[in-house]
Amino acid sequence: MITYTDISKRYNDVTVVDKLNLTINDGEFVVLIGPSGCGKTTTLKMINRLVRMDEGTIHIDNEDIMDVDAVELRRKIGYVIQQIGLFPNMTIEENISVVPKLLKWNKEKCRQRVYELLTLVNMPYEENAKKYPNQLSGGQQQRIGVLRALAGEPPIILMDEPFGALDPITRESLQDEFKTLQKKLHKTIIFVTHDMDEAVKMADRIVFMSKGKILQVASPEEMLDKPADPIISSFMGKRSTPRHYNELTCADVMRTKVLIVPETKKTLECIALMKQRDLNTCVVVDMEDKFKGVVTIENIKEHGKPGEEISGIVDTGIETVQVNTNAKNAFDKLNQTNADYLVVLDHNKMVSGIITKSSMTKALASVVWGDAN
Ligand SMILES: Nc1ncnc2c1ncn2[C@@H]1O[C@H](COP(=O)(O)OP(=O)(O)OP(=O)(O)O)[C@@H](O)[C@H]1O
Ligand SMILES: [Mg+2]
Repeated sequence: MITYTDISKRYNDVTVVDKLNLTINDGEFVVLIGPSGCGKTTTLKMINRLVRMDEGTIHIDNEDIMDVDAVELRRKIGYVIQQIGLFPNMTIEENISVVPKLLKWNKEKCRQRVYELLTLVNMPYEENAKKYPNQLSGGQQQRIGVLRALAGEPPIILMDEPFGALDPITRESLQDEFKTLQKKLHKTIIFVTHDMDEAVKMADRIVFMSKGKILQVASPEEMLDKPADPIISSFMGKRSTPRHYNELTCADVMRTKVLIVPETKKTLECIALMKQRDLNTCVVVDMEDKFKGVVTIENIKEHGKPGEEISGIVDTGIETVQVNTNAKNAFDKLNQTNADYLVVLDHNKMVSGIITKSSMTKALASVVWGDAN
C-alpha cells in the first residue's frame, strides 16, 4: 500500500502539489490525469524520490520512504517514461537486464528472465535479444521499456505517459497488451496520462488533478457518471468512444419497434394486432402518416364499439419529442410529466419511435458500461 499524507511540493515559492492525500492499494491500477502542469509527474516522482517533497510523508507498506536508501527504494519500483530511455549502445537483452544485474542475479537467471519477458509480449528471444534499440520500431522499443521496468519483479510500477509518443494504433495495442499483462502480474501501478480514453480503459481508479490538488478520485464508471467538476466533464467530452450520455439524442435511446396503425383501422383489428405483439398500446397516424395519438386496449374496451374505426377514441394528449432532442431533456420530460412513454417524431411529424424509461436506461447503460452482450 502506498500512502501520501499531506504532501506538498513548491518550486520557487509556487506550490505545484498542494497537501495531497491519497492511498493506493496493493495490486491496484491507479491513473493520474489532469491538465498539463497540474503536478502529475511531480506526484509520481516523489514515490521513487526523484523529486523530494517539501512537506508531508509517503509510506510504502507503513515504511516512510525517507527512511529507506534511495537506490534500494528504486529497485523495488519500476519506472517507465514516454521517452523510453533505452540505452542505445546496449542490446535489448542488456537493457532488460539492468536491474536484475544490480540485484546480482546470476547470468542464467537474468537470461531466463529476459526470455520470459520477451515471450510475454510476443517478441521471441531468438529474434530480438541481440538487437539494438534503433533496430526496433517505436512500439517495440516502448514494450522493451515496460519489460525493463518489470525485470527485477518490483511490486510497484510507475508509468509516466508511457504510450504518449506512439501512433494511435500501436498505442491501443500496447494498452491492451499491458492490461492483459497486469491481470497476470497484479502489480501496483500508478500511471500518468492526459488521455481520458486511456484512463477509462486502464484504471481501477482515476485520480483527477488540477493545480496541484485532487479534484476527484473515482472508478471510471463513477467519474463518467458524476464528474465532480466542469473541468472533468470537459476532459470526458474529449473522449472518442464510447460517447458520454450528454451527447446522446432521442434517436440513440428510443425503441423503434413500435406498432403504428392508421386511424381508419377497426377497433377489433387493432386489439388483435396488439395482442399478437403482446402490447397494450399502439401509435395512431392519420392518412398522411403523420402522428395523431395513441390508443390502448383498455381505451378500446371502454369506449370503442366493434366494427368502428379507432379515429374517434384516439388519445391526442400524448407527450412527444423531436428525434434530435438531447436524450437528457427527454429523460427529464419523462420524469416531470410522469408519462409512461414519449413518442419520438421526425421533422415531418412522422413517428420515429418511442422512449420508455426502460429503453432509456438500457441505452444509457450501454454507453456507460459498453454493450453488456
Ligand atoms: N524542476 C522544476 N523546477 C521548476 N518548476 C518545475 C519543475 N518541475 C516541474 N515544475 C513545475 O511544476 C508544475 C507541475 O509539473 P509536472 O511536471 O508535475 O506537471 P504534469 O502534470 O506532469 O504536466 P504534463 O502533463 O505537462 O506532463 C508545472 O508548473 C511545472 O512547470
Ligand atoms: Mg508530466
